[in-house]
Amino acid sequence: MKILAIESSCDETAAAVVENGTNVLSNIINTQIETHKRYGGVVPEIASRLHIENINQVVALALSEAKLTFDDIDAFAVTYGPGLVGALLVGVSAAKGLAFAQNKPLIPVHHIKGHICANYIENPDFKPPFVCLVASGGHSHIVYVKDYNTYEVLAKTCDDAAGEAFDKVSRVLGLGYPGGPAVSREAEKGNPNAIHFPRVNMGEDGFDFSFSGVKTAVINYIHNAEQKGEEINKADVAASFQEAVVDVLSSHLIDCAVKCGVDKIALAGGVAANKLLRERIEEKAKKKGLSLSYPSLSLCTDNAAMIGCAAYFAFGNGETADLSLNAVPSLSLD
Ligand code: KG4
Ligand code: ZN
Repeated sequence: MKILAIESSCDETAAAVVENGTNVLSNIINTQIETHKRYGGVVPEIASRLHIENINQVVALALSEAKLTFDDIDAFAVTYGPGLVGALLVGVSAAKGLAFAQNKPLIPVHHIKGHICANYIENPDFKPPFVCLVASGGHSHIVYVKDYNTYEVLAKTCDDAAGEAFDKVSRVLGLGYPGGPAVSREAEKGNPNAIHFPRVNMGEDGFDFSFSGVKTAVINYIHNAEQKGEEINKADVAASFQEAVVDVLSSHLIDCAVKCGVDKIALAGGVAANKLLRERIEEKAKKKGLSLSYPSLSLCTDNAAMIGCAAYFAFGNGETADLSLNAVPSLSLD
């Protein structure tokens, strides 16, 4: 089954053709990062307009790179939430138009399920059940993936997402956007134990996250130093902040996996591209006898191949939509 998938929930206009869930025939990503950089973050209105400008070309490229025509496509899939409403609407409208014109099924996909499914593309032998940490610019979840279509949220953030904290800290340190890669580059030159930033455990089991406190602690640290006329060591601040976030993300993931009794864990989302996070989780997983899967860097950040993969399993579960499909900006996972 060949699915043409579209992703436009944030600042990447993406389209891919995926065969039978994991065979990626094309994966086109048109990123808007250079434009949003000027504003220090994603400007929703600009994102929507750029998606409109780029979507047809990106879809055409996905087809031509796969050496296929619309006749070869069996179904169209699209991210319908969560994300920026205007941005999502562009992808949803495009996919609806294609499904209608081609008279083929339309498969609605949850963005976070897409991120999780990137693991199946990367490691075709990797199968549920497993516990997955999904950390991106908009979300920080720990999800129990019981089978291909059964997801249970074990933990989530009470305020900021991990990626959002990276982006904000990067901005106050003057390191630019997107913050994750910039902060982690700066952190390589610093001492992760120079400053102790708070680690917060929320919720009944203590598995939920809160990243607004650590972000505020970094801002306060910088303001205090400024008021005293002291120069801060940016690399130490970046390294200590990254250490605090990685510490919390990795320990909550391992604790959740142990609680669920699974023998496999996975990473997903843009923050899963973080080198220290990968290394730390690998270390902790080994100690507990857990095997670990994570997608390659290009499948961690937003892309449409992961949406095509999730769509394949959703379709097998009877999940299709009609032309009344709408964008759902705060779509929940379970
Ligand atoms: O999944 P994604 O591409 O988009 C969303 O769905 O949000 O994730 C983007 C987020 C941004 O906040 C970015 O700063 C973060 O992922 N990110 C990283 C790294 N690379 C990207 N965070 C930490 N370390 C990285 N190396
Ligand atoms: Zn994402």
